This record gives sequence, C-alpha cells and structure tokens, in this order.
Amino acid sequence: MKPTAELSHEHQAILLMIQVLEKMGDRLEAGQAVDPAHLEKAVDFIKVFADKCHHGKEEDLLFPAMEKAGIPRQDGPIGVMLHEHVAGRGYVKAMAEAIPGIKKGDKAAAGTFAENAKNYGALLTAHIGKEDHILYPMADARLTPAQQKELEACFADVEEKIVGHGKHEEYHRLLKELESAYLA
Ligand SMILES: [Fe+2]
Ligand SMILES: [Fe+2]
Repeated sequence: MKPTAELSHEHQAILLMIQVLEKMGDRLEAGQAVDPAHLEKAVDFIKVFADKCHHGKEEDLLFPAMEKAGIPRQDGPIGVMLHEHVAGRGYVKAMAEAIPGIKKGDKAAAGTFAENAKNYGALLTAHIGKEDHILYPMADARLTPAQQKELEACFADVEEKIVGHGKHEEYHRLLKELESAYLA
C-alpha cells in the first residue's frame, strides 16, 4: 500500500471514532448515562491510534519527506496541518480531564466532554478532508517511488516499535465494539 493510502485508511477509522465520541457527547448532554469505561477507551483510541501513531507518522516521517521534496513548512499546508494537530490535542486533553467528574455525576463535566468532542470532531473532520484531497495528492506527486517505499517501511516500524505489536488490530476491535454500542 502507498504510504498516503495507509494514512487515508487510518482516517476512516478516526472519523468513525469521532462519530462515536459525538454520540457519547449527545447522550451526556441529554442527561443519559454513558459507561465511563467506554469514554476512557474512546479517548485512549484517539490519544494512541490517532495522535501517537497516525499523527506521529505524519509529523515524524511524511511531512519531513515532503519538506525535503521542496514543499515548505512555514506559511504552507504542512504548517497548517501541524497547527491543527496541536489544537486537537487541547480538545482531547479536555475530554480526558472531564471523565473523573462524569464518574461522580457532575453535569458540568458531562457538558465539557460533549463540547470538546464536538469541537474535536469538527476540527479533525475538516483536517482529514484537507489531507485526503490536497496534502496527500501533493505527496504522491512529489515523492519518488523509492522515497514512498522507504516511508512505507518506516511506517511499519512505527507500528511495531512505538505503538506495539498487534495493538493496531486491538484498536480496530475496540472501534467495532463501540461502533455497535453507539452507532448501530
Ligand atoms: Fe494530520
Ligand atoms: Fe491525517
């Protein structure tokens, strides 16, 4: 698989988890109970699968390769993507910090989670659209087949060494579980 195709494939999983988070937020806002273990698992998915693994591949490997190929970081699309990754982390942190309050039945904490889930969803959905339609096609056009092959090997390394062997599949199983609990 081309490196950008692998990343686009991961986007589909991230978008699905965003729908789950938004649904959790809707239920919390309506005063309904949401299993805190589900909230924790969904936030963990975003922290590890989306941020550490997916954004890690972009920030440490794809974007530097694109810069080397002459696409500027400053005042260009790469800079915008990096800025959005940082903004997303703020929303995820707020969601994580709201969970202890939700466990105690705190309504304000439930509202905070819901609001940040919505903001994160809106930000990341637009971000993913820009990568799939603008940034990744740019990478496909500018990186040589040899550079793409090298990236692919480095991505496999990230999976094994940073995320952990078999973890990727575990996250896909979790996604299926939460999908059937919240989006069915
Ligand atoms: Fe990104
Ligand atoms: Fe991405």
